[in-house]
Amino acid sequence: MSETIHSTLEERRVFPPPADFAAKAHIGTRAEYEKLYRESIDHPEQFFGRIAEELHWFKKWDKVLDWQVPNAKWFVGGKTNVAYNCLDRQIDLGRGDKTAILWEGEPETAAGAGGEVRKITYKQLRDDVSKLANGLKSIGVKKGDRVTIYMPMVPEAAVAMLACARIGAAHSVIFGGFSSQAIADRVDDAQCTVIITADGGYRRGTVVPLKRNVDDALTKTDRVKKVVVLNRCNMPVADGVAPGSIAWKEGRDVWYHDLVGTQSADCPAEPMDSEDTLFVLYTSGSTGKPKGIQHTTAGYLLGTYLTTKYVFDMKPDDVYWCTADVGWITGHSYIVYGPLANGTTCLMYEGAPNHPDFGRFWSIIERHKVSVFYTAPTAIRAFMKAGKEFPQKHDLSSLRLLGTVGEPINPEAWMWYHTVIGHEKCPIVDTWWQTETGAIMITPLPGVTPTKPGTATLPFFGVDAAIVDRSGKELGPNEGGLLVIRKPWPSMLRSIFNDPERYAKTYWSDVPGYYFTGDGARRDNDGYFWIMGRVDDVINVSGHRLGTMEIESALVAHEAVAEAAVVGIPHEMKGQGIAAFVTLETGRRADEALKKDLIAWVRKQIGALATPDQIRFTESLPKTRSGKIMRRLLKEVASGNEVKGDVTTLEDFSVLAKLKEKDEG
Ligand code: WT7
Repeated sequence: MSETIHSTLEERRVFPPPADFAAKAHIGTRAEYEKLYRESIDHPEQFFGRIAEELHWFKKWDKVLDWQVPNAKWFVGGKTNVAYNCLDRQIDLGRGDKTAILWEGEPETAAGAGGEVRKITYKQLRDDVSKLANGLKSIGVKKGDRVTIYMPMVPEAAVAMLACARIGAAHSVIFGGFSSQAIADRVDDAQCTVIITADGGYRRGTVVPLKRNVDDALTKTDRVKKVVVLNRCNMPVADGVAPGSIAWKEGRDVWYHDLVGTQSADCPAEPMDSEDTLFVLYTSGSTGKPKGIQHTTAGYLLGTYLTTKYVFDMKPDDVYWCTADVGWITGHSYIVYGPLANGTTCLMYEGAPNHPDFGRFWSIIERHKVSVFYTAPTAIRAFMKAGKEFPQKHDLSSLRLLGTVGEPINPEAWMWYHTVIGHEKCPIVDTWWQTETGAIMITPLPGVTPTKPGTATLPFFGVDAAIVDRSGKELGPNEGGLLVIRKPWPSMLRSIFNDPERYAKTYWSDVPGYYFTGDGARRDNDGYFWIMGRVDDVINVSGHRLGTMEIESALVAHEAVAEAAVVGIPHEMKGQGIAAFVTLETGRRADEALKKDLIAWVRKQIGALATPDQIRFTESLPKTRSGKIMRRLLKEVASGNEVKGDVTTLEDFSVLAKLKEKDEG
């Protein structure tokens, strides 16, 4: 942990929930929130046991919680199935003909008309899921296996996740922007033998060559026996080298439509143990190797169900839209599992926010009468910059609630969202959580909590959040410290896949006995949490999490690079940008061509999201006597700041002087 915690902005504006919103909200008074919150903390078994009654169980649990730091078991002895709860249960509740997924594709059918639209009812979705589930069984997928999903944002991505859940296979979804190397690493780590993908996917007017990336990945690992390929883009089968074509490996590759075509739409949901793994999802940490965050069945289902219901105040006639990609935890919890477990109509959009222009999101909201909208601060900043003319061309009056997630939202962006998009009538829920937490943890309740621009406000039910120092001592109001969670919660990660020791060490050892989030924060006089960003070697680029060491490993894998140090720097649009300091092998020339080459190399090793904003060549890196790279110094150099603070442990002061010389690269 390298960074000192800086204090955040002073924000005094307060926005109470509109009275008419509060009057209709699931939870409409502060007293009700306080009462439920107290119960959830003081008597979690009673509280969560009662909530769990709202879900379907094949067999009821024997014990709500079994907790021994750092291992939690929720609903011990219970049997349930997440896909059953998202589909069959909704049909039983009379929602069979209701639209579950309302999808819009990216390519426009005519200028300004939006893309192709598909509406899939709960009944149809169950049929589609069951057919694919049977198809997966027919190619040998069994309960307990892992299946990789590398898909564009099409309904079949959700179908694939639910099909795995239905038969008890854990999915490992990989974001479509990741490179073939990243796919191979994740396939190997999770020991996947089947991949579900598509020929390609539409993004910003071009086709992302998903199948080609998978083929490339499979030259680096021989674990995968079957590749299921959805035909999304009608790419012809050829040698896979000709532009726009895909290659085909007989015996290994199978078309999605062929796999499901002959299958029965009847596939009974597998009764799963509460603690069986639902999925593994990779995220970055402070080492070079991404962690397979492991989530289980009942607790995750309960957490996503409950937060969706109360944080988004979900009502039967809502049209809800979360703009994330299913490749991230936000997509898992708030496009697929949470909304469907509530019987919601969930909008899914395939493409980019600015295709064909920055009006696309607003036209989608108008066209489909979206009422609840959940997006990221980085997107809001991009829209702000593009101008309010775009949203002003559209009727946004269907909106009643707005949300944000992924990084702290700066007050200007919050105010823009509030006025230009919400027309000052929609509460904004700024939701703090993580891949590891599975569900929203700190958030306003829209009918209850007065909001202030820039704070995620108060903890959700069952979340015992606190600001502490390293010894675990709670700090006073406005004192910056470490954000920890002191009690287990149902949707918490259970482990890092195949690495329980790393799990215990990463999350439960910095502040003994508590879950350490990796974030610094403070609480204000009203008890609101202000997140100040990561205090570990993780950076947040456009709401996406990257490990500095992960990018460093990619750089040193290049033959010209001897050493590399990567730091996050402030970035107007992305929140944080990436600066890389690089020393070269003897005899290599530090020139522009090599810079370009290194940038392309990192994109190839990890994906476009890891593209460095700056590469700086240097003769050596500043290190402490014990050999630790002094990232704090590099950060200041990269941000163009005067280097402040203690440099007496620097091994070689001349290194610093050389770094500061601008024209070195
Ligand atoms: C990190 C988790 C969970 C969804 C997307 C990101 C930062 C997330 C907020 C927020 C301030 C936030 C934190 C956290 N973060 N939401 N509302 N305010 N910071 O998931 O990739 O696991 O990243 O994102 O730093 O630790 P993730």
